[in-house]
Amino acid sequence: MAFSLKLAVAAALVVTLSVCMVEGYPSGAPVEACSAMFPNHRMNHENSSLPDERYSSQNLSTAPYLITAARQDNGKVQVSLGVTDAAQYYWEGFFLQARLQGTTAPVGRWEVLPTGTQTRDCPGGMKNALTHTSETKVRTLDATWTPPAAPANMTVVFRVTFVKGFETFWVGLESAPVTGVKAYVSATVPLKALTTVVFSTALMATVAAMF
Ligand SMILES: *[C@@H]1O[C@H](CO)[C@@H](O)[C@H](O)[C@H]1NC(C)=O
Ligand SMILES: *[C@@H]1O[C@H](CO)[C@@H](O)[C@H](O)[C@H]1NC(C)=O
Ligand SMILES: *[C@@H]1O[C@H](CO)[C@@H](O)[C@H](O)[C@H]1NC(C)=O
Repeated sequence: MAFSLKLAVAAALVVTLSVCMVEGYPSGAPVEACSAMFPNHRMNHENSSLPDERYSSQNLSTAPYLITAARQDNGKVQVSLGVTDAAQYYWEGFFLQARLQGTTAPVGRWEVLPTGTQTRDCPGGMKNALTHTSETKVRTLDATWTPPAAPANMTVVFRVTFVKGFETFWVGLESAPVTGVKAYVSATVPLKALTTVVFSTALMATVAAMF
Protein backbone atom coordinates (compact mmCIF):
# COMPACT_ATOMS: atom_id res chain seq x y z
CA MET A 1 0.00 0.00 0.00
CA ALA A 2 1.41 3.36 -0.97
CA PHE A 3 2.18 5.76 1.85
CA SER A 4 -0.39 8.34 0.69
CA LEU A 5 -3.07 5.68 0.54
CA LYS A 6 -2.23 4.53 4.09
CA LEU A 7 -2.52 8.14 5.20
CA ALA A 8 -5.89 8.48 3.49
CA VAL A 9 -7.14 5.30 5.16
CA ALA A 10 -5.91 6.53 8.54
CA ALA A 11 -7.59 9.89 8.01
CA ALA A 12 -10.85 8.21 7.01
CA LEU A 13 -10.67 6.03 10.12
CA VAL A 14 -10.22 9.08 12.36
CA VAL A 15 -13.20 10.79 10.73
CA THR A 16 -15.31 7.60 11.08
CA LEU A 17 -14.39 7.24 14.75
CA SER A 18 -15.26 10.83 15.58
CA VAL A 19 -18.55 10.58 13.70
CA CYS A 20 -19.33 7.42 15.69
CA MET A 21 -19.27 9.28 18.99
CA VAL A 22 -22.83 10.53 19.10
CA GLU A 23 -25.25 12.31 21.38
CA GLY A 24 -23.17 13.81 24.17
CA TYR A 25 -24.61 16.76 26.11
CA PRO A 26 -21.73 19.28 26.13
CA SER A 27 -24.01 22.15 27.12
CA GLY A 28 -26.14 20.43 29.74
CA ALA A 29 -28.59 17.54 30.10
CA PRO A 30 -31.89 18.12 28.22
CA VAL A 31 -35.39 17.74 29.71
CA GLU A 32 -35.67 14.42 27.84
CA ALA A 33 -33.20 13.05 30.40
CA CYS A 34 -35.25 14.25 33.42
CA SER A 35 -36.62 10.86 34.36
CA ALA A 36 -33.82 8.36 33.68
CA MET A 37 -30.98 10.89 34.15
CA PHE A 38 -29.09 8.75 31.62
CA PRO A 39 -26.58 10.31 29.20
CA ASN A 40 -27.41 9.11 25.69
CA HIS A 41 -23.83 8.21 24.81
CA ARG A 42 -23.76 5.71 21.97
CA MET A 43 -21.12 3.98 19.88
CA ASN A 44 -22.31 3.13 16.39
CA HIS A 45 -21.83 -0.38 15.05
CA GLU A 46 -20.04 -0.69 11.75
CA ASN A 47 -22.90 -3.02 10.75
CA SER A 48 -25.74 -0.52 10.35
CA SER A 49 -28.41 -3.23 10.62
CA LEU A 50 -27.50 -3.73 14.30
CA PRO A 51 -28.82 -1.30 16.92
CA ASP A 52 -26.44 1.33 18.29
CA GLU A 53 -24.78 0.31 21.49
CA ARG A 54 -25.37 2.54 24.50
CA TYR A 55 -22.56 2.90 27.01
CA SER A 56 -23.67 1.73 30.42
CA SER A 57 -23.31 3.36 33.83
CA GLN A 58 -20.26 2.58 35.90
CA ASN A 59 -20.91 0.66 39.10
CA LEU A 60 -22.29 3.17 41.63
CA SER A 61 -20.53 1.40 44.51
CA THR A 62 -17.19 2.58 43.11
CA ALA A 63 -18.25 6.14 42.22
CA PRO A 64 -15.48 8.61 43.13
CA TYR A 65 -18.01 11.30 44.06
CA LEU A 66 -19.56 12.67 47.24
CA ILE A 67 -22.99 14.23 47.72
CA THR A 68 -23.72 15.92 51.03
CA ALA A 69 -26.83 17.86 51.97
CA ALA A 70 -27.55 19.98 55.05
CA ARG A 71 -30.71 21.78 56.11
CA GLN A 72 -30.19 25.48 56.74
CA ASP A 73 -31.93 27.68 59.32
CA ASN A 74 -33.79 29.48 56.52
CA GLY A 75 -35.51 26.22 55.50
CA LYS A 76 -33.44 25.68 52.34
CA VAL A 77 -30.91 22.89 51.83
CA GLN A 78 -27.24 23.36 50.99
CA VAL A 79 -26.09 20.60 48.62
CA SER A 80 -22.38 20.00 48.05
CA LEU A 81 -20.92 17.85 45.29
CA GLY A 82 -17.30 16.74 45.46
CA VAL A 83 -14.74 14.12 44.47
CA THR A 84 -13.04 11.53 46.69
CA ASP A 85 -9.59 12.42 45.33
CA ALA A 86 -9.05 15.79 43.64
CA ALA A 87 -5.76 14.62 42.10
CA GLN A 88 -7.52 11.92 40.07
CA TYR A 89 -11.18 12.75 39.68
CA TYR A 90 -13.45 15.43 38.26
CA TRP A 91 -16.69 15.64 36.29
CA GLU A 92 -17.29 17.34 32.94
CA GLY A 93 -21.06 17.10 33.16
CA PHE A 94 -23.68 16.54 35.86
CA PHE A 95 -27.42 16.44 36.35
CA LEU A 96 -28.81 17.07 39.85
CA GLN A 97 -32.35 16.68 41.20
CA ALA A 98 -34.08 16.52 44.57
CA ARG A 99 -36.70 13.80 44.84
CA LEU A 100 -39.07 12.86 47.64
CA GLN A 101 -37.80 9.52 48.93
CA GLY A 102 -39.31 6.66 46.94
CA THR A 103 -40.55 8.82 44.04
CA THR A 104 -39.12 9.49 40.56
CA ALA A 105 -39.98 13.14 39.80
CA PRO A 106 -37.85 16.11 40.85
CA VAL A 107 -39.34 18.62 43.32
CA GLY A 108 -38.47 22.07 44.68
CA ARG A 109 -36.23 24.48 42.79
CA TRP A 110 -32.62 25.56 42.39
CA GLU A 111 -31.87 29.22 42.91
CA VAL A 112 -28.80 31.50 43.13
CA LEU A 113 -26.97 29.32 40.64
CA PRO A 114 -23.28 28.45 40.99
CA THR A 115 -20.99 29.50 38.09
CA GLY A 116 -21.19 27.15 35.11
CA THR A 117 -24.64 25.81 35.92
CA GLN A 118 -28.18 26.26 34.62
CA THR A 119 -31.60 24.97 35.59
CA ARG A 120 -33.98 22.76 33.63
CA ASP A 121 -37.78 22.68 33.94
CA CYS A 122 -38.55 18.98 34.27
CA PRO A 123 -42.22 17.88 33.98
CA GLY A 124 -44.24 18.98 37.03
CA GLY A 125 -42.19 22.01 38.03
CA MET A 126 -39.90 24.92 37.26
CA LYS A 127 -36.13 25.08 37.80
CA ASN A 128 -36.33 21.65 39.44
CA ALA A 129 -33.08 20.27 37.99
CA LEU A 130 -29.55 21.63 37.75
CA THR A 131 -26.98 20.86 35.05
CA HIS A 132 -23.68 22.11 33.58
CA THR A 133 -23.32 24.76 30.86
CA SER A 134 -20.02 23.49 29.36
CA GLU A 135 -17.56 20.61 29.60
CA THR A 136 -15.26 22.31 32.10
CA LYS A 137 -13.57 19.96 34.60
CA VAL A 138 -15.18 20.50 38.02
CA ARG A 139 -14.22 19.00 41.39
CA THR A 140 -16.48 20.83 43.84
CA LEU A 141 -19.83 22.60 43.64
CA ASP A 142 -22.25 24.04 46.23
CA ALA A 143 -25.87 24.69 45.33
CA THR A 144 -28.91 25.85 47.26
CA TRP A 145 -32.20 23.99 46.99
CA THR A 146 -35.57 25.41 47.98
CA PRO A 147 -38.15 22.79 49.08
CA PRO A 148 -41.63 22.72 47.50
CA ALA A 149 -44.72 24.14 49.31
CA ALA A 150 -45.99 20.61 50.11
CA PRO A 151 -45.87 18.10 51.79
CA ALA A 152 -45.42 19.71 55.22
CA ASN A 153 -42.67 17.36 56.39
CA MET A 154 -40.64 15.46 53.80
CA THR A 155 -37.69 13.16 53.38
CA VAL A 156 -35.61 14.19 50.38
CA VAL A 157 -32.90 12.40 48.41
CA PHE A 158 -30.50 14.29 46.16
CA ARG A 159 -29.80 12.33 42.99
CA VAL A 160 -26.92 13.04 40.63
CA THR A 161 -25.57 11.70 37.36
CA PHE A 162 -21.86 12.48 37.00
CA VAL A 163 -20.18 12.36 33.58
CA LYS A 164 -16.38 12.07 33.63
CA GLY A 165 -16.04 11.31 29.95
CA PHE A 166 -18.00 10.01 26.99
CA GLU A 167 -17.60 6.38 28.01
CA THR A 168 -17.32 6.89 31.78
CA PHE A 169 -20.29 8.07 33.80
CA TRP A 170 -22.27 7.18 36.90
CA VAL A 171 -26.08 7.37 36.69
CA GLY A 172 -28.28 8.19 39.68
CA LEU A 173 -25.88 8.38 42.59
CA GLU A 174 -27.89 9.36 45.70
CA SER A 175 -27.20 11.34 48.85
CA ALA A 176 -28.19 9.97 52.24
CA PRO A 177 -31.89 10.77 52.81
CA VAL A 178 -32.46 14.15 54.45
CA THR A 179 -35.37 13.88 56.89
CA GLY A 180 -37.51 16.58 58.47
CA VAL A 181 -37.38 18.97 55.51
CA LYS A 182 -40.24 21.45 55.96
CA ALA A 183 -42.47 22.75 53.20
CA TYR A 184 -41.13 26.11 52.02
CA VAL A 185 -43.60 28.97 52.03
CA SER A 186 -42.06 32.06 50.46
CA ALA A 187 -41.70 35.11 52.69
CA THR A 188 -44.92 37.13 52.93
CA VAL A 189 -45.79 40.33 54.75
CA PRO A 190 -44.70 39.84 58.39
CA LEU A 191 -47.64 39.20 60.74
CA LYS A 192 -47.01 42.38 62.78
CA ALA A 193 -47.14 44.63 59.71
CA LEU A 194 -50.26 42.84 58.50
CA THR A 195 -52.02 43.44 61.86
CA THR A 196 -51.12 47.12 61.71
CA VAL A 197 -52.53 47.43 58.19
CA VAL A 198 -55.77 45.66 59.19
CA PHE A 199 -56.05 47.78 62.34
CA SER A 200 -55.49 51.10 60.57
CA THR A 201 -57.94 50.10 57.83
CA ALA A 202 -60.54 49.34 60.50
CA LEU A 203 -59.79 52.65 62.23
CA MET A 204 -60.14 54.56 58.94
CA ALA A 205 -63.49 52.83 58.34
CA THR A 206 -64.63 53.79 61.84
CA VAL A 207 -63.48 57.38 61.37
CA ALA A 208 -65.16 57.53 57.94
CA ALA A 209 -68.41 56.22 59.41
CA MET A 210 -68.40 59.03 62.00
CA PHE A 211 -68.76 61.66 59.29
C1 LIG B 1 -25.16 -7.37 10.06
O1 LIG B 1 -25.97 -7.88 11.10
C2 LIG B 1 -27.04 -8.69 10.65
C3 LIG B 1 -27.92 -9.06 11.83
O2 LIG B 1 -27.16 -9.68 12.85
C4 LIG B 1 -26.44 -9.95 9.96
O3 LIG B 1 -27.49 -10.75 9.46
C5 LIG B 1 -25.55 -9.49 8.80
O4 LIG B 1 -24.92 -10.62 8.25
C6 LIG B 1 -24.52 -8.52 9.29
N1 LIG B 1 -23.77 -7.98 8.18
C7 LIG B 1 -22.44 -7.93 8.15
C8 LIG B 1 -21.82 -7.32 6.94
O5 LIG B 1 -21.74 -8.35 9.08
C1 LIG C 1 -20.97 -3.29 41.91
O1 LIG C 1 -19.88 -3.55 42.75
C2 LIG C 1 -20.22 -4.27 43.91
C3 LIG C 1 -19.00 -4.33 44.81
O2 LIG C 1 -17.85 -4.65 44.10
C4 LIG C 1 -20.73 -5.64 43.51
O3 LIG C 1 -21.11 -6.36 44.65
C5 LIG C 1 -21.95 -5.46 42.61
O4 LIG C 1 -22.39 -6.72 42.13
C6 LIG C 1 -21.62 -4.57 41.43
N1 LIG C 1 -22.83 -4.30 40.68
C7 LIG C 1 -22.92 -4.42 39.37
C8 LIG C 1 -24.22 -4.07 38.77
O5 LIG C 1 -21.99 -4.79 38.69
C1 LIG D 1 -41.10 14.68 60.23
O1 LIG D 1 -40.89 13.34 59.77
C2 LIG D 1 -39.91 12.64 60.50
C3 LIG D 1 -39.77 11.28 59.88
O2 LIG D 1 -39.47 11.37 58.53
C4 LIG D 1 -40.31 12.51 61.96
O3 LIG D 1 -39.28 11.87 62.68
C5 LIG D 1 -40.55 13.91 62.54
O4 LIG D 1 -41.05 13.79 63.84
C6 LIG D 1 -41.56 14.66 61.67
N1 LIG D 1 -41.69 16.05 62.17
C7 LIG D 1 -42.87 16.64 62.30
C8 LIG D 1 -42.82 18.04 62.82
O5 LIG D 1 -43.91 16.09 62.02
